[in-house]
Amino acid sequence: HWGLKTNWLGKNIIHKTTAASTQQIAHQAARENAEHGTVIIADEQTEGKGRMERRWHSSKHKGIWMSIILRPSIPPAFAPQLTLLTATVLADVIAEQTTADPKIKWPNDLLINDKKAAGILTEMQAEQDQIQYIVAGIGMNVNQTDDDFPDTINDKATSIKLETGHDQQIVQLIQQILLYFERSYDMFVQNGFPNIKNKWESYGYRMGESIKIRINHNELKATCTGVAEDGALLVQTDREGTQKIYSGEIEWFH
Ligand code: BTN
Repeated sequence: HWGLKTNWLGKNIIHKTTAASTQQIAHQAARENAEHGTVIIADEQTEGKGRMERRWHSSKHKGIWMSIILRPSIPPAFAPQLTLLTATVLADVIAEQTTADPKIKWPNDLLINDKKAAGILTEMQAEQDQIQYIVAGIGMNVNQTDDDFPDTINDKATSIKLETGHDQQIVQLIQQILLYFERSYDMFVQNGFPNIKNKWESYGYRMGESIKIRINHNELKATCTGVAEDGALLVQTDREGTQKIYSGEIEWFH
């Protein structure tokens, strides 16, 4: 009943009305040899996981809570490219299916009007420099209203509905995400990173603007210029030329 138009992605779908976390289910399925392209979808998650051990609020039928199992034959060091790929897929779907104007904030936040509308959690299992599998977790806030978010994150989180005023069909968005993901992944396998890099940069949050970035406790005046092959953020500084930023938490200032 998912009505997918894909060739290989989502041929095997595990659907749960309630799950603790689709990431957990995906890891278990992958350990039990689930095939490349297996997709896990939950209507709600009771223990949705975000990056940096944070919680991801995943209320019933309000958004997309989905994990994709991938078995790419790339070196583990290139795995971050799949996070960037996933971000461009979500940005394309939001841009084409809704009236919102999505931006990607490095490394993997999808912003609409400066607030977070979707996030990606990529987890990898590798052994002896070989990827066993990757789980790409996608959380997209679709039809939430303000009441659906806890007060503590209300000023940072948003949904497509909150930003556009329109409800969206969740199943239709899932169809579109999986179709675009498959196309983008196939292109990535054939042509490598350049296409993704260009697309990512076209959606990049504050690309080309002069900003202050706070990394841990240091402030840096810089211009974001793009993303590198290893997933790093490229910034241009007055003093030191182009630098690569790897650390997970970055704050932007005007
Ligand atoms: C982040 O921005 O911190 C990443 C959020 C990722 C949330 C998704 S929802 C589906 C999958 N299952 C989880 O428990 N987390 C990811």
